[in-house]
Amino acid sequence: MEFNVDTTALDALATPLLVVPTFSDDGARGEAYDEANALVGGRLSGIVEEEGYKAEAGKTLLVHTSDAKARRVLLVGVGKAEDYEPLALRSVASSGVQEANGRKLDSATLLVPEAGDRARAMGFAAQGALLGGYRYDHWRTQNVEPLTCQRLGLATGGVDVDGAEAAVAQGEAIGEAVNFARDLMNGPAVEITPTAMAEAARDIARDGGLEVKIFDEAEITRRGMNLILSVSAGSDEEARFIHLTYRPEGATDDTPEVALVGKGVTFDSGGYSLKPSAGMEDMKMDMGGGAAVLGAMKAIAAVKPKYVVHGIVPASENLINGKATKVGDIVRSLNGKTVEIMNTDAEGRLLLADALCYAERLGVDRVIDLATLTGASVVALGPHTAALFAGDEAFGDKIKEASERAGEDFWPMPLNKKLREMLETPNADMKNVGQRWGGAITAGLFLEEFVGDMTWCHLDIAGPAMSDKADGYVPKGGTGFGVMTLVELLQGEV
Ligand code: BES
Ligand code: ZN
Ligand code: ZN
Repeated sequence: MEFNVDTTALDALATPLLVVPTFSDDGARGEAYDEANALVGGRLSGIVEEEGYKAEAGKTLLVHTSDAKARRVLLVGVGKAEDYEPLALRSVASSGVQEANGRKLDSATLLVPEAGDRARAMGFAAQGALLGGYRYDHWRTQNVEPLTCQRLGLATGGVDVDGAEAAVAQGEAIGEAVNFARDLMNGPAVEITPTAMAEAARDIARDGGLEVKIFDEAEITRRGMNLILSVSAGSDEEARFIHLTYRPEGATDDTPEVALVGKGVTFDSGGYSLKPSAGMEDMKMDMGGGAAVLGAMKAIAAVKPKYVVHGIVPASENLINGKATKVGDIVRSLNGKTVEIMNTDAEGRLLLADALCYAERLGVDRVIDLATLTGASVVALGPHTAALFAGDEAFGDKIKEASERAGEDFWPMPLNKKLREMLETPNADMKNVGQRWGGAITAGLFLEEFVGDMTWCHLDIAGPAMSDKADGYVPKGGTGFGVMTLVELLQGEV
């Protein structure tokens, strides 16, 4: 997809589809609507009236014009003018591109509203166009209609907008990073193995000028990351430990360091605590946290925040063979704590535990882990909301605020210490599961054992990482959830 900031005067705009953000206020649909209406000789008013179109958020109305320059006008509702935020353009651009693809048009032009931060709005529009135009069709050989819309103009109504080009370039980098994470998630486990994830990380490092370290199983063994080994023990595919580092120009020893740690289970069968078939259907996407971390590192290389950022992904399959971990096995973690594995399906926390110890040894100040960790978080919050467990309240607030700016949904959850006793066992320092109740919380409390002195937040993204139906710019399948929040956070103050 190509984007161009279009400063052509409106009456000279030629486009097969003019996309017009429209406010729902009666009689005051906004200047973008007024201009589009003027462009087609005032004909929109009558049609809007006749169709009873109210421009509620997300509602669209397509109008064919006989005007040669703007052949079609797509009104896209953005709700009330007083609630308008630049973020709204993500959905608008997504609707525009989906409409253009549906009609086999090769381009569209979006009228950027005058209100608010227009450069930021254009960045969101670029994101939305890429997200809405996403499709996973790598393995389809038949009946694939091509996606035709290759260009989106961002029209300013003939004026220059400061910072527009840079904002669009950033929006593009972010949109591509989310789609990259989606591709990794949607790829079948036979293709997206731990080794393939490591190769993807190498590509990111090469393209973005990041440092990269990949540990194979021999190195993971040598370093004593036994919890990771215990997850991969039953698999013929070797585990990989991925560590990318971004350093801003001029970084010194005083530059704050942030680590992003993502669960990279490329297929979760449950191990000997085997999942039922239905529970396994989405488990090629159990690397959604790792995909989000790799996606964020890809965008970070382009967005260039002021922090040192480590992207860490322990990647493994969770399968069964004669060497697989057995229920009741006891394993010594990287920080020396012993874990009795009472459920081999609670494997994500095992990978993350060793990865958190590794991050602590790097000397980072702040760490965020992301994981499709528990079904319990989906039971608690539903499929669209991620659970935010703040080891540090102020840091949790920063992440929550960034997620609101990025338009991703998180809700704070308690790390209730009273539940810690559920992890007690006479046989080891802890076991890896509690009882049924509070399952997302005990998972968080387990991780906390491995955080040491770092300022930490845990994000359980099991719900929103995968979607069972397409909705706006969120496709069915892997969503790439988390990338946008991480990038937004790192662009601001952490
Ligand atoms: N990968 C799953 C969690 C999951 C479930 C993610 C559904 C997305 C959708 C995780 O490894 C797991 O199996 N967790 C168990 C933990 C339990 C054994 C304590 C779960 O949630 O049932
Ligand atoms: Zn599991
Ligand atoms: Zn899992």
